[in-house]
Amino acid sequence: NKITVSVIKADIGGLCGHTLAPEDLLEACEGVLEAVVDELIIDYYVTRCGDDVDLIMTHRMGVDNEEIHKLAWNAFEEATKVAKELKLYGAGQDLLAESFSGNVRGLGPGCAEMEFVERPSEPIVVFCCDKTDPAAFNFPLYKMFADPFNTAGLVFDPSMTGGFAFEVHDIMDSKKVILNTPEETYSLLALIGDVEKYAIKRVYRRKDNEIAAVVSTEKLNYIAGEYVGKDDPVAIVRAQSGFPAVGEVLEPFADPHFVAGWMRGSHWGPLMPVGEDDATPSRFDGPARIMALGFQLADGMLVGPNDLFADKSFDKAREKALVMADIIRRMGPFQPHRLPSGMMEYTTVPKVLEKLKDRFEDIEDEPKKLEKCRERGDVE
Ligand code: F6R
Ligand code: MG
Ligand code: MG
Repeated sequence: NKITVSVIKADIGGLCGHTLAPEDLLEACEGVLEAVVDELIIDYYVTRCGDDVDLIMTHRMGVDNEEIHKLAWNAFEEATKVAKELKLYGAGQDLLAESFSGNVRGLGPGCAEMEFVERPSEPIVVFCCDKTDPAAFNFPLYKMFADPFNTAGLVFDPSMTGGFAFEVHDIMDSKKVILNTPEETYSLLALIGDVEKYAIKRVYRRKDNEIAAVVSTEKLNYIAGEYVGKDDPVAIVRAQSGFPAVGEVLEPFADPHFVAGWMRGSHWGPLMPVGEDDATPSRFDGPARIMALGFQLADGMLVGPNDLFADKSFDKAREKALVMADIIRRMGPFQPHRLPSGMMEYTTVPKVLEKLKDRFEDIEDEPKKLEKCRERGDVE
């Protein structure tokens, strides 16, 4: 009697530009999901964050289920038809494959899923982002599950004092490692502080290995080989009774952190927590947004949502994010507003630089430092 929560998302067109997925797209998706309620899925909620459409579904089919993934793909395809009729910007942009084959992973959409036995009362928080990438969750998940200054339960709740285990993915080399907190905290930070290479995929409670959190870690640009929009992530977090309280799950976002994304997926900027009505990134196509929708599961039914970041207690975080946005925007195309070259590799910038390639010449009388080091065997 396990329940699966699947959150599958895709950008299938914006009104206008990359700012917002209009209501018409959500309705098209809802039509497809509604037709299979009680048949394939138990319940669903469709929303959008910026230009991304998020399908939140519950069912009993387990994670990575072909029928569920096909359902999501069909919903996105139906919505793409509408997007094309309306000539929305980037219609069907994230449906990279010509047709569905087995699993949405690798085809374009992003996906976060977890399966568990529903507790007598099961509060979950679904996070949806726009204009940033999966590693944006590294910092807040660390705070939620490993920082006692954020999560009092790590100190006060005996179910949590044993700590949490983090499954970290090397998103470039497709490798994973599990690190246990609190004792491996420093090693964990050594990895996840590098948001270019590592992303937290899952978090488990060590006491009983219960799944606590999952993030979509698909990197669109690695799938498509070039820049096709950011990998705007989603995440699911279980809360209360031995997991962080809802307020502890939300607390990391009260003090905004810098994430990669924003304009052209090429800039650092603050992650601004917003309610559903304010998930409309416009300034410089941003700044990056995150929504938090709280649900109670009732035998798989999604009771809610409670639009958690709409609360007044996040007003200051929003103001702060806007101040951070002003400060870093002044740098324009200069680092550290602009991302480092490694992170720009899959943007359109290499094409721009390619044009200059033949114009470079050697600097006379300047020793070739790198060549010298190689001769000495200092570097490879
Ligand atoms: C960022 C994003 C936008 C676009 C920008 C340029 O994730 O989607 O900031 O990169 O609007 O878009 P194009 O190249 O489609 O004109
Ligand atoms: Mg878009
Ligand atoms: Mg987007």
